[in-house]
Amino acid sequence: MTQEYRITLLPGDGIGPEIMAVAVDVLKTVAALQGNLSFTFQEALVGGAAVDAVGQPLPEETLDKCRNSDAVLLAAIGGYKWDALPRELRPETGLLGLRAGLELFANLRPAQIVPQLINASSLKPEVISGVDLMVVRELTGGIYFGKPRGIFATETGEQRGFNTMAYSDSEIDRIGRVAFETARKRSRKLCSVDKANVLEVSQLWRDRITALSAEYPDVELTHLYVDNAAMQLVRAPKQFDTIVTGNLFGDILSDIAAMLTGSIGMLPSASMGASGPGLFEPVHGSAPDIAGQDKANPLAQVLSAAMMLRYGLNQPEAANRIEQAVQKVLEAGYRTIDIQSPGTTVLGCQAMGEELIRALGT
Ligand code: IPM
Ligand code: MG
Repeated sequence: MTQEYRITLLPGDGIGPEIMAVAVDVLKTVAALQGNLSFTFQEALVGGAAVDAVGQPLPEETLDKCRNSDAVLLAAIGGYKWDALPRELRPETGLLGLRAGLELFANLRPAQIVPQLINASSLKPEVISGVDLMVVRELTGGIYFGKPRGIFATETGEQRGFNTMAYSDSEIDRIGRVAFETARKRSRKLCSVDKANVLEVSQLWRDRITALSAEYPDVELTHLYVDNAAMQLVRAPKQFDTIVTGNLFGDILSDIAAMLTGSIGMLPSASMGASGPGLFEPVHGSAPDIAGQDKANPLAQVLSAAMMLRYGLNQPEAANRIEQAVQKVLEAGYRTIDIQSPGTTVLGCQAMGEELIRALGT
């Protein structure tokens, strides 16, 4: 029996449309090879592209389309062009609205060393070889969404900007459960990252995660303060398996984890809620400096499509095919400019896509 999936595509801004085109070709090829699945793609506007077309970064129609699909594949949003707009019109606000609107509270960001790219990292090969970790980032709470927030004028005529970092029991527990379950499927080591030596919100975080660990006696739980965690990630990253943390700390630590692997252009992510469609997107941004030049690395987007198959649609075999194709093109020495090294063949975004399609067929 053929499984049919409706996928909402959000190409967004900058290099988004170029890398999305490659991912769609890859998905179509995988469907044809598998024979038991088919995709219906529907495109929608988000980010700067939506601001330009309809005057807002997350049109209601986009959210509706996303809700009425089995999964959402997003490329990237943002660019210099929209940086000066008021906050409610900024592309980032569209992305945050999407995460909140679809209640995607759990963000999984894997960072795995690809042996062929070990020299692309700024860290020594012996430090990073074998790194395989997963950052589980809380995505719909914390200081990103906490209220009150704003900038106000004080009596002295100064301005004062403020945000609120807040988590409630239930928010911590649900992300904690995802993290313990994730660790269980990996090597059963979970490190919770907070700033409990200073922040009350972190104290609650630590207490709840510690209490939850009673339900997961098979998972070894440790705690680190976020400053130490940042240091440990670059000092000795192999000590980590699964990391769970709040929204802001996760934003920062996942960028560090990404750079262990040499190129942020390689890393996919999955954002999931309790039910409903997940959202799958590369960790990198829209790279406006190289947009439209056929220089972008489509591999994180393609690997995000693989994560969509694995975590969103429960099609591990199709996901494996994609991940193996990525391995094959790297083994054959093909690189985009961001991951090139001596002796490799540099390809543009489109040509990299063609090699992936070729590799899928072999
Ligand atoms: C990310 C990005 C976003 C975030 C921005 C674009 C709003 O940095 O997905 O990590 O801060 O969450
Ligand atoms: Mg970020």
